[in-house]
Amino acid sequence: MQFTAANGVQLPQIMYGTAWKKEATTDLVLKAVRAGFRAIDTANQLIHYDEALVGKALLELYQGGLKREELFLQTKFTSVNGQDHRTPYDAKARPAIQVEQSFASSLEHLHTEVIDSYVLHGPYGRRGLTAEDLEVWQAIEKIYKSGKARIIGVSNFSADQLEELCLKAEIKPMVVQNRCYAVMGWDRDVRDVCSENNIIYQGFSLLTANGRALASPSVRAVATKYGVTMAQLIFRFSLQIGILPLTGTSDQEHMKEDLQALSFEIDQQYIKMIEAVATIE
Ligand SMILES: NC(=O)c1ccc[n+]([C@@H]2O[C@H](COP(=O)([O-])OP(=O)(O)OC[C@H]3O[C@@H](n4cnc5c(N)ncnc54)[C@H](OP(=O)(O)O)[C@@H]3O)[C@@H](O)[C@H]2O)c1
Repeated sequence: MQFTAANGVQLPQIMYGTAWKKEATTDLVLKAVRAGFRAIDTANQLIHYDEALVGKALLELYQGGLKREELFLQTKFTSVNGQDHRTPYDAKARPAIQVEQSFASSLEHLHTEVIDSYVLHGPYGRRGLTAEDLEVWQAIEKIYKSGKARIIGVSNFSADQLEELCLKAEIKPMVVQNRCYAVMGWDRDVRDVCSENNIIYQGFSLLTANGRALASPSVRAVATKYGVTMAQLIFRFSLQIGILPLTGTSDQEHMKEDLQALSFEIDQQYIKMIEAVATIE
């Protein structure tokens, strides 16, 4: 499975996520890249991420000989409703200015001049898009046009919101990053909108949001058949249905294990069964 964005930019097949790592962020990013991850996901949102500590790891990796272009860096703009008092921008400024300031601060944190993928962390509301959402998106489009973000996208969008953005945007999102629930057909509705609009779907919480599906005896039997762990099975399954998986493991063995999901193949009959697991059991 290759993940090529609508404008031809190539993405690695699995991403290492840096949420909730706090002061361990630098150490875990070093371990993840040394284990073989080449895509890092973060956000300029101190409640859940420490982007500057990701940047600290990057400097150490570059000193060790790794080149910037060997890594795929993804970060996000988080609006005031997803931040605490530590906003990386003037919280009273217009949303478009907040995007500009947050992006400039991300470039500094990550010691780079170009972000590979810049993502709107979430819409302002649960239904539809507001004027603020569209203003933020236009500011993100402006960054894309300046060449400082190679691809742009959104996160935590419903199918309706994604369709609306695709209709109203000058430049459609190229990636969507969502929590992926088996009970929702592994986010089937959003993935359908992605297919129609040539958008790459990135899935998070593939393990943690799907306890019931993972406990299913038929899914377990497939893992046993291939001699893989449940995490490997689910990440591999996700790749085969076109989902780019994120993992945020803090365990070095799990890092290696997750990367091995790139090197085996699940037969289509089992893919179909896992895809439908929440509806059949
Ligand atoms: N856009 C958004 O709003 C949003 C929201 C949430 C997450 N994300 C992104 O997605 C990334 C991943 O988050 P997540 O929600 O999927 O959860 P996660 O941080 O990947 O957590 C996975 C959990 O499963 C456990 N686990 C057990 N075996 C594992 C294995 N082999 N591989 C991986 N995990 C294993 C982990 O424990 P061990 O650490 O012991 O392995 C951990 O407790 C985040 O870091 C972030 O970058 C984005």
